[in-house]
Amino acid sequence: MSGIEKTEYSVPSQPPRREHVDPQAQQGEHEAELSLRPKSLAEFIGQPKVRDQLGLVLNGARRRGVTPDHVLLSGPPGLGKTTMSMIIAQELGTSLRMTSGPALERAGDLAAMLSNIMEGDVLFIDEIHRIARPAEEMLYMAMEDFRIDVIVGKGPGATSIPLDIPPFTLVGATTRAGMLTGPLRDRFGFTAQMEFYDVADLTKVVDRAARILGVHIDPDAACEIASRSRGTPRIANRLLRRVRDYAEVHGDGHIDLAAAQGALEVFDVDSLGLDRLDRAVLSVLVKGHGGGPVGVNTLAVAVGEESSTVEEVCEPYLVRAGMIARTGRGRVATAAAWRHLGLTPPDHALGMHLSEEQD
Ligand SMILES: Nc1ncnc2c1ncn2[C@@H]1O[C@H](COP(=O)(O)OP(=O)(O)OP(=O)(O)O)[C@@H](O)[C@H]1O
Ligand SMILES: [Mg+2]
Repeated sequence: MSGIEKTEYSVPSQPPRREHVDPQAQQGEHEAELSLRPKSLAEFIGQPKVRDQLGLVLNGARRRGVTPDHVLLSGPPGLGKTTMSMIIAQELGTSLRMTSGPALERAGDLAAMLSNIMEGDVLFIDEIHRIARPAEEMLYMAMEDFRIDVIVGKGPGATSIPLDIPPFTLVGATTRAGMLTGPLRDRFGFTAQMEFYDVADLTKVVDRAARILGVHIDPDAACEIASRSRGTPRIANRLLRRVRDYAEVHGDGHIDLAAAQGALEVFDVDSLGLDRLDRAVLSVLVKGHGGGPVGVNTLAVAVGEESSTVEEVCEPYLVRAGMIARTGRGRVATAAAWRHLGLTPPDHALGMHLSEEQD
């Protein structure tokens, strides 16, 4: 955060925060999310491919009376991986045991988990790409042979005791499928790739959440929230809660289009779902550097953020929204970025990324 350069163009004086459009869950948000989680495949909105495929995997196993193959759920944060793991257990009528990669530091941590498993249970390992190596190796055998070797004692006197585990289904979730080792990936029978949601599906997510929360919302207001939610149900649900607060303070709690737009303006979430940090990055790129190319470190210093934040938090969505392109020489603004800031794109921006233009 050190060394914020003084520049001639305007950047926010405080490091911008990503309260509203961060796809990661925030502190204290889990409880609010719990009540909004769909409980069955039928209730799960969007992701038709994943739903169909998973339905087949689960039904097929049920017909044959066996535990389903291990399932890997992969995709960006906030798209419903944890929700889906709960649904899998629910659909199978078994219990779900939850843990996460970072919690499995030693093989013993995993052994403790596995020795409590009952036949047919679903074991959910979140952030499975962060599992420690010794635990991962134990997991290979558990997944393949439903057996582990528990090491008792240390040094030359250590002995390994084989332990049988009842058949179970492992559901792993990861935001970084590329970081999984080959042997681990190969042991999953089915990989579900979760995609960003389109506005129509997100509108349904908002409508459903409003019903559960007991809020009245007009269809165009639901659509407005959906279109600013960056393809992510977690963000849609969060924005709905912010809009609800606004509608309660400024009116009778009914959410119409004006309330949705007013609230999202107050919370600095623009028509494309960009927040102050995204716009600061675009502004530095376009107004400060003529559209680039600019290195990510330079961008990060100018907006007063860590480069990892700019790279991992801002860029993926800006790239997906067709606002910036990553090139070997740095980041480049597309014509859409210039227009989004209310500027006329110069010729070089026009020529550069015609294929990414939406209009
Ligand atoms: N298809 C859906 N329909 C309705 N709500 C959904 C759907 N998918 C996700 N949600 C809602 O979005 C929120 C986030 O979902 P979830 O926690 O499952 O995401 P995740 O992929 O596990 O995220 P992370 O990578 O951060 O763990 C939940 O509150 C859930 O209610
Ligand atoms: Mg999750």
